Amino acid sequence: MPAGIDDIAVYIPKLYVDATDFASQRGLDPAKLQKGLGVSQMAMVDTNQDPACLAANVCLKIIQKNNLKPADIGRLYVSTESSIDESKAMNSYVIGMLEQVYGSGVFEHCGGVETKFACVSGSYALYDNANWIRAGEADGKYAIVVVSDIAKYDMGSSGELTQGAGAVAMLLNDCPRLLEFDPRVASTSIKDEYDFYRPTGKSTPIVHGQYSNLLYLIQVRNALEIYKRKAQETGLIEIGQGETVLDHIDYMCMHLPYSNMGKKAFAYLLRHEWRSLPRWKSVVDAVGMEEPIPNNIGTIETILEDRAFMEKDHHFNKRLVETKEFKKEYNAKLASSLRASTMVGNIYTASLYLSFRSALEFEHNRGTDLAGKRFGFCSYGSGSSAMIFSGVICPQYREVVEPMNITAEIGERRRLTFEEYEIIHENKRLPNNPMLDTSKEFVLVDVNTSPDSQGQRRYVYNE
Ligand code: HMG
Repeated sequence: MPAGIDDIAVYIPKLYVDATDFASQRGLDPAKLQKGLGVSQMAMVDTNQDPACLAANVCLKIIQKNNLKPADIGRLYVSTESSIDESKAMNSYVIGMLEQVYGSGVFEHCGGVETKFACVSGSYALYDNANWIRAGEADGKYAIVVVSDIAKYDMGSSGELTQGAGAVAMLLNDCPRLLEFDPRVASTSIKDEYDFYRPTGKSTPIVHGQYSNLLYLIQVRNALEIYKRKAQETGLIEIGQGETVLDHIDYMCMHLPYSNMGKKAFAYLLRHEWRSLPRWKSVVDAVGMEEPIPNNIGTIETILEDRAFMEKDHHFNKRLVETKEFKKEYNAKLASSLRASTMVGNIYTASLYLSFRSALEFEHNRGTDLAGKRFGFCSYGSGSSAMIFSGVICPQYREVVEPMNITAEIGERRRLTFEEYEIIHENKRLPNNPMLDTSKEFVLVDVNTSPDSQGQRRYVYNE
């Protein structure tokens, strides 16, 4: 039985920090954010929003947009790394909020869990729910996978440049209008690592930034090797002489902690794939220098410590992305997927799916016929695991993609002053004192502090 994504919705909170304001206050060149990282705006939550609110708002959006009744939905999963409770799962909060609109108990049948593995957990949730559908367990019902996160780093840290907040909901079924997953090719790579992690009780992560960048690249490449094998073994893709598996994937969506990471990762994959092909000679000629090799391929630490190699490697990559060979691939397969991320920043679990949403809209806008085109998804979560899977755009995709307008979907936003940003970041304002008045949205009213009910959260739907 096929399984895939029938529809996708995005919810982005209505406050943001502009990269230029941020740079001027932190004494940085704005070009470091805008050009170096690809960050123009970072979405921020209001004082009365938490990741469960974002998840409930996007869930309501996709249900209303598709005129679904609670009985149509068989499963609701929420994937997040911004968990608000060690035990109570975020999908239960979402059910509670949705029942304020649809009636008490109407989602009682709708099972699910909260999944966690940094930014990759949404991809595991999609895979598990696709298999629930493939196994015939869905009985004609939809599964909804929501990915919702608030990326928040310590003030003054280098991670502070890559914050954001938002949620994406995906509606899955056995006759999708948007994308059908390729069967038996989802591939994972996993390793116990401390590139980025958030110990229990801490509200911001501990990050080894450059280490995390390199680990992301290595893990995604490992997963691609497995994908390549599976794609050939299952007969999904036949890789001819002088070809790479990437020649058979029309569009790539990458996990985007910042939009330029997508470009870096794409260049890394191409570089490794092209290296053994006849075309590599002309690419290296165009780069104008020999590809550097590390003195000691020991660990990520030894590679990062090999300064001479790192500098040459950086230089090589900078030149590689300027070659016509790279630009052709980049413009054809990746560029459209990076656009929404520059407006929002990192939304952890949701970043990969915002990139998919972005690619659909901007490719469609440039007149591309997407029907039958294969999308490759490169998911990465710190800690660490990568997952690669793919799917093909369905014949009736236009029905879903035609009305897409990410600017309208994000809606009118308010640019925070730097002082306001700091107040929100440091939780100096309470939920009962939000920056914005909202309507038709779920908001957090309060968090109980009494010993018996500590941590209980109350939400309302603002009519
Ligand atoms: P940094 O070390 O301050 O920045 O932090 P940098 O020195 O690496 O500079 C960044 C880029 O800006 C470089 O581009 C510079 O050249 C350029 P590159 O050369 O690499 O292409 N640059 C400029 N460009 C134009 N004009 C200028 C200028 N100055 C510099 N004046 C870092 C960067 C990403 C490490 C930091 O922000 C950080 O630690 N972020 C958080 C961790 C992160 O996002 N890691 C990404 C991979 S891990 C991941 O994706 C998982 C994650 O999402 C979590 C999860 O899974 O849950 C994070």
